[in-house]
Amino acid sequence: MSRIEILDAATSNAIAAGEVIERPMSIVKELMENSIDAGATQITVEIADGGITLIRVRDNGCGMDEEDAQKAFICHATSKLRSLDELFSLHSMGFRGEALASIAAAARVTLSTKEPLAEKGTCVRYEGGQFISCEPIGMPSGTTVEVRDLFYNLPARFKFLKKDQTEANYIQVLIERFILCHTDVSFKFIKNGKTVLQSPGNCDPSSALYSVYGKEICSACRPIDSSIDGITVKGFVGLPKIARASRSEQIIFVNQRLIRSKTITSAIDAAYTNMLMKGKYAFVILDILIPSSDLDVNVHPQKAEVRFSNESMIYRAVYHAIVNTLSAETMSVDYAFNSGNESKETVTSLSPVKAPVSEAAPAVKASVDYSKNIGYSNLYFKQQEKPYEVPAASIEPIPSVPVTEDVPSEEKRTEKTPSMETILDIVPQSREESLHELTSSRVIGTLFDTYILLETKDRTLLMIDQHAAHE
Ligand SMILES: Nc1ncnc2c1ncn2[C@@H]1O[C@H](COP(=O)(O)OP(=O)(O)OP(=O)(O)O)[C@@H](O)[C@H]1O
Ligand SMILES: [Mg+2]
Repeated sequence: MSRIEILDAATSNAIAAGEVIERPMSIVKELMENSIDAGATQITVEIADGGITLIRVRDNGCGMDEEDAQKAFICHATSKLRSLDELFSLHSMGFRGEALASIAAAARVTLSTKEPLAEKGTCVRYEGGQFISCEPIGMPSGTTVEVRDLFYNLPARFKFLKKDQTEANYIQVLIERFILCHTDVSFKFIKNGKTVLQSPGNCDPSSALYSVYGKEICSACRPIDSSIDGITVKGFVGLPKIARASRSEQIIFVNQRLIRSKTITSAIDAAYTNMLMKGKYAFVILDILIPSSDLDVNVHPQKAEVRFSNESMIYRAVYHAIVNTLSAETMSVDYAFNSGNESKETVTSLSPVKAPVSEAAPAVKASVDYSKNIGYSNLYFKQQEKPYEVPAASIEPIPSVPVTEDVPSEEKRTEKTPSMETILDIVPQSREESLHELTSSRVIGTLFDTYILLETKDRTLLMIDQHAAHE
């Protein structure tokens, strides 16, 4: 007797939704990508209660007619791809035709949309994967998608959601990433009725950087713009003084797609060799443009990873782009040395010291530690199952950078789930905090009649140039 049954659409969609929709942030990402693909120049994201009770994404893009507004919820229905070949000449964020179907399977969804020349718009409603209604509606052109009561029908998934504030933070960080990359779009983020983020959308990467990080971080970043072997690397590199305690500010876009990549991460580490103290990670925002034919975007259910046809070329382009930009700088260098036990002591020179940047970086055994990343890193810094080797053979003149990574036990992985503290890593230390740190430090003595040595409360050793301090 046959035991195999074909699942009904609602059940199979709910299962498929698990791949695409992990948390409210995943929904915001999919909806913003749809808005960008629709040519929107203004995107407003509104959430209530961490996005669990409400996510509303409004755009001024091309909108849809009634037929498409209904089709959009069908699994594998897309206007962005016609055949598999087109995957390698893709210019859109979406291509699977899965996002709206997945969202509709996991929440109560209302999509209202209108094309610019149409007299009326269309409003389609779904609940838990079930079609509810389709009605005409008066509205400005563009599309608004409202998602309410996420996982109301999937209690097992609901349990895995974090506190509202944590989920809201993930969403905010995600929108900040989009602001940095899609500088031609003006983003607005409204959280529980309050506007907390707004970007100019004036196509100026520096303005976008400023709107996300503020003045201090901006002044410690240098623009990067380099092309090697048809690969363009743009964005910003941070001076060593704004290095972070985690990889949370290593933001990588490939063809405007927010991704994670071991190859690129390794190239960043190699480029900053000798410039950062142990346990510190460079602040880098990279916008890498490569021909679509050299990129496979169809390797991850949340589109958070890509495969390069030539990893070595990517590695080399990123490495040289960063090294060339940094070597043009005279900068402070953070040195670190391990005191023998687990505690680390730091010497921070506050006077300019020439950074030892060389064309051919010394060999580095970069152990990629994703453990301290912020929560949304579930999407962007996920642990790889196998140790990853950067293809070294053709990376001349840069020595190979074997990346070995401990795959943590299940128990440890849970331990390393995102915490508020790690999210707060992205908040720059204020001037007052820095001054307080200095004034509350213990003076140890002087070195070479030039530097004052201080021990801070958190057992960090500061070295201050007396002349600089005097000035
Ligand atoms: N904001 C929008 N404006 C205009 N059209 C939209 C919008 N959102 C969705 N659509 C249309 O609905 C279709 C289905 O969207 P959906 O996000 O489910 O799939 P996709 O974007 O094609 O692929 P992916 O699953 O990879 O995101 C899109 O291909 C697009 O034609
Ligand atoms: Mg989509």
